[in-house]
Amino acid sequence: MCGIVGYIGGEEAAPILLRGLQKLEYRGYDSAGIAVLGEAGLKVCKSKGRLAALEEKIALENASALPGAARGTLSLEGTMGLGHTRWATHGEPSDVNSHPHTDVSGKIAVVHNGIIENHAKLRAWLKDHGVAFRSETDTEVIAHLIDFHYNGDLLRAVMETIQRLEGSYALGIICENEPDRIIAVRRESPLVAGAAAGSSFIASDVPALLEHTRDVYYLDDREIAVLFRDRIEFYNDEGQPVLKETARVSWDAAEAEKGGYEHFMLKEIHEQPRALVDTLRPRIRNEESTDGSAPFRSINLEEIGFDSSWAGAGRVVIAACGTAWHAGVVGKYAFEHYVRIPVEVDVASEFRYRNPVLDPANPGGDIFIIISQSGETADTLAAMRMAKKKGARIVAITNVVGSTLAREADLVMYTWAGPEIAVASTKAFTTQLMCLYLMAVRLGFLRGTLDGEASAAAIEAMEKIPQAAEKILSEKEKIQRFASRQFNKTKVFYMGRLFDYAVSMESALKLKEVSYIHSEAFAAGELKHGPIALVDQHTLVTAICTQSRLFDKMDSNIKEIKARGGTAAVITYEDVTAFDETADEIFRIPRTDESLSPLLSVIPSQLYAYYCSVLRGLDPDRPRNLAKSVTVE
Ligand code: G6P
Repeated sequence: MCGIVGYIGGEEAAPILLRGLQKLEYRGYDSAGIAVLGEAGLKVCKSKGRLAALEEKIALENASALPGAARGTLSLEGTMGLGHTRWATHGEPSDVNSHPHTDVSGKIAVVHNGIIENHAKLRAWLKDHGVAFRSETDTEVIAHLIDFHYNGDLLRAVMETIQRLEGSYALGIICENEPDRIIAVRRESPLVAGAAAGSSFIASDVPALLEHTRDVYYLDDREIAVLFRDRIEFYNDEGQPVLKETARVSWDAAEAEKGGYEHFMLKEIHEQPRALVDTLRPRIRNEESTDGSAPFRSINLEEIGFDSSWAGAGRVVIAACGTAWHAGVVGKYAFEHYVRIPVEVDVASEFRYRNPVLDPANPGGDIFIIISQSGETADTLAAMRMAKKKGARIVAITNVVGSTLAREADLVMYTWAGPEIAVASTKAFTTQLMCLYLMAVRLGFLRGTLDGEASAAAIEAMEKIPQAAEKILSEKEKIQRFASRQFNKTKVFYMGRLFDYAVSMESALKLKEVSYIHSEAFAAGELKHGPIALVDQHTLVTAICTQSRLFDKMDSNIKEIKARGGTAAVITYEDVTAFDETADEIFRIPRTDESLSPLLSVIPSQLYAYYCSVLRGLDPDRPRNLAKSVTVE
């Protein structure tokens, strides 16, 4: 995944582009570059490494210009340009592979997020036509193709070029001969545009625009935007004008900043109580009873289209990647518990290449739930498209309004988590869980497996979750202290049963993502079938214990760990004494409905992962080799 920005207006472009890129660095950060078009023509500066390396390089280049140099002679002067932050796919991170890429003459510059699948064929064809390539990237073919088709009309050249591209792309393009416009186009990779007085912008994601405007245009697949200083025009890929409306972004720039926290990850962990309230509250209503008894609380999902027509489904199928998949595993237990409906859950990359049995002719058909924070993960989109083709009704749970997933699903349930910047997902996970619980309880009610009273009790328990989350956060120092004693343990396991097994998987993922500690999860019943061979005095095992009917089993597992010299920590409710004698450390969460426990039990693990990362001198917001959203396979 990469991030692109574009600016055209009346101010110097370079600082604006760099600020925009800072907001997108979460999308990729192995190299960065900008192209600026000014009186001196098109100038490009790019550098391997973090954005800071590019900033240094630009400062150096400008400093080496002649003192008192006239306007137009500084290296990166100009009031329009493009920027890019890269997460390498084709070609290693290097200066030359960084974007923007230019055509042979250096008059056309291109930034790209996505993957051109037929780039090898195009490269061979261009080579046959005398083009000498500089980089190993798939993107460079685009700059040369545009040049090949350029005949004094950049828009036309871009339209002809995209006809020849297979794969996914969000592109920003500028040309020295047309200094009044930026052309942008997307297919399967996100792109937003925005306008402010006398200037226009594009970006891969909204946070890069918020400093300038909160009214944004989400480009649809194959749409083209032509950005002028005073307006933006939209076209379809056949060149016909398209009328688009702006969407108002409800969160502001401050929400995309760290707001006093040392890292986005810690800020986002702390935002969970608010995010959970925002996700839950608009979906709860007071309902008058028909028999004159007191009004009761119910879940309102009709507004998003989840009405009684969904109640006859024969099965629920869930697919997602990474953390969102773990949310799906919790969802499986939740749907089985509240709805008593068969549920299948799979990682999207497996699902899309299986030959899954989805049969709309089944009585009631399948509800296909697809979960993705970004709404842009390549495997997740492919899984959704396959399910759609096979006739399933699609519900998307996503955090990004206007994302591809949101636009292609039959029905969208947003996680109102606000922007999630840290690569490791935290508040998106818990709000995804909240959406799944809302849907499960509603479906249970619609199908009669939960009566009004049971549904109201579940809602009441859900409404208490944000405050309980707040309480866990207020005791975070205990986890910090534990992390400072344990962060050197490089063999870490999480174990649990049922809901706790799902949370164990998410806990282990969190730890490995941000601390690079080898951590794995297993269903506690599997301890004897393998993991126990690894347990010794260097091992930390955290047992997640929120299912009271299985406490005895968990306690036996903990004893087995202790007997082999391992350290055992437990996450359980504040009133549980079952592990007092066995565990080395106990993290306590407020008592809740045992089916809702994942909403709380994951928080100590998120904090533990965060503190281990910091204690190991790492940057939890930008772990090596990972990207926030994986928009290529
Ligand atoms: C990447 C991110 C994870 C995320 C996964 C799925 O691996 O690093 O944090 O869970 O993608 O992303 P999505 O946007 O589809 O939820």
